[in-house]
Amino acid sequence: MRSEAEVAVVTGVAGFIGSHLAEALIRHGMHVVGVDRRSAVRPAMAQAGNLAGLRSDPRFRLVEGDLLTMPLEPCLEQARVVFHLAARTGVRGSWRNVNAYLIDNVVATDRLAAACLAAKVPRLVVASSSSVYGDTCEHPTSELATTCPLSPYGMTKLAAEQLCFAAAADAAPDLRVVALRLFTVYGPRQRPNMLIRRLLHSALTGEPVPIYGDGLQRRDFVHVDDVVRACLLAMTTPSASGVFNVGTGCSTAVAEVVELIAALTGWRPTLQDADGHAGDVPCTEADVTKAATLLGYRPMVALKDGLVAQLAWMAGGQWQLTMEGGVRD
Ligand code: NAD
Ligand code: UGA
Repeated sequence: MRSEAEVAVVTGVAGFIGSHLAEALIRHGMHVVGVDRRSAVRPAMAQAGNLAGLRSDPRFRLVEGDLLTMPLEPCLEQARVVFHLAARTGVRGSWRNVNAYLIDNVVATDRLAAACLAAKVPRLVVASSSSVYGDTCEHPTSELATTCPLSPYGMTKLAAEQLCFAAAADAAPDLRVVALRLFTVYGPRQRPNMLIRRLLHSALTGEPVPIYGDGLQRRDFVHVDDVVRACLLAMTTPSASGVFNVGTGCSTAVAEVVELIAALTGWRPTLQDADGHAGDVPCTEADVTKAATLLGYRPMVALKDGLVAQLAWMAGGQWQLTMEGGVRD
C-alpha cells in the first residue's frame, strides 16, 4: 500500500454491508484495510463471494483475524477512520446464544475502541442498530427516543455504541465517535436469513418462507447504497461525536413487501405461517432529520427500485424486468 494514501479500516469487511463500504471507499480514492474472521455462523464461500471484487485490488488489504484476539495495532497504523461493522448479527437468533453476542458485540468492541485510542485514530464510525429502541411508540423514531432493546442483539448493539462513546470521552476531541443506527438494510449480498432475501429467493425458486407472527410488523427497509452513503458522510462530518439514524423515514409491512414482490416479478413468494419471535418489534421507522441536517444524508433508493436491483443480483443477471412488471430470462 502507498504510504501517502488515506487509509480506512473496515471491520466485518467480508459481511454484507462491510464489503459494499470497502468498495465505495476505494472508489473514493482511499486505501482499505479490511478485517474479518472466518465466521462460524456464515459459510466461508459466501464471505469469499462478498470479497470477490476487492481481493485483487492493490488498494485493498485483507487481515484475517478475530477482533477478540488478533493484534490490532498493526491494522490501525495510519488509519484516518475506522468503520466498525463486525458483529454477531441477527435479532431472532440472539436469544439462543447470548454469550456469543456479548463476546462479539461488546467485548470485541471494547478492545477495538481501546486500540483506536492507543493508535490515536481520529474517527471511529460504529454500526449500531434500530433494535436499540425496542418497542417504542414514537414513529418515526428520533435519536432522542428512549432506548429499551427487546433482544440480546439490541442490548449488545446499544452497549457497543455506549462503550465507544465512553472510551472517547476522555480523549475528546482527539477521537470522534459516530454511531449510525442502521434500520433494516437490504440489497445485493444481503444476509441469506433476512426477509427480503428469503422472499426474492422464494419468488425465484418456490422455496417456502416462514412468516413470523401476523406479517403486519413494519420495517424501515433501507438500501445498502444509502447506508454506504451515510457511512461516507460520517467519515467527513465536521460535527462532534453523536448518534444518527440511518433509514428512509418510511415503513413497510412484511405483507406489503410480499405483494410488492409479487407485482414486480409476477410470482408470489410461497409463505408458511410461523410463530412470532421474542424481540421482533411491531414497527421500526427512522426519523432521519438529524442525519439530514448534520450529515447531509438523503435516502435515495426507493424500495421498489432496490428490490429490482436485489432480484437482478440474486438471479445472477440473467433475469430482467419486463415492461409488464413480470420477470423473464
Ligand atoms: P454480516 O453478518 O454480513 O457481517 C458481519 C461480519 O463481521 C461477518 O463477516 C463476520 O465474520 C464479522 N465478524 C463478526 N464478529 C467478528 C469478530 N469478533 N472478529 C472479526 N470479524 C467478525 O452483517 P451485516 O448485515 O453486514 O451488518 C454489518 C453491521 O451493521 C453489524 O454491526 C450489524 O449489527 C449492523 N446492522 C446491520 C443491519 C442489517 O440490516 N444488515 C441493520 C442494523 C445494523
Ligand atoms: C434487521 C437485521 O437483521 C439486524 O441486524 C438489524 O439490527 C435490524 O434489522 C435493525 O433494523 O436494526 P430485522 O428487522 O429482523 O433485523 O430484519 P429481517 O430479518 O429482514 O426481518 C424483517 C421482518 O421480517 C421481521 O419482522 C421478521 O420477523 C420478518 N421475517 C424475517 C419473517 O417473517 N420471515 C423471515 O424469514 C425473515
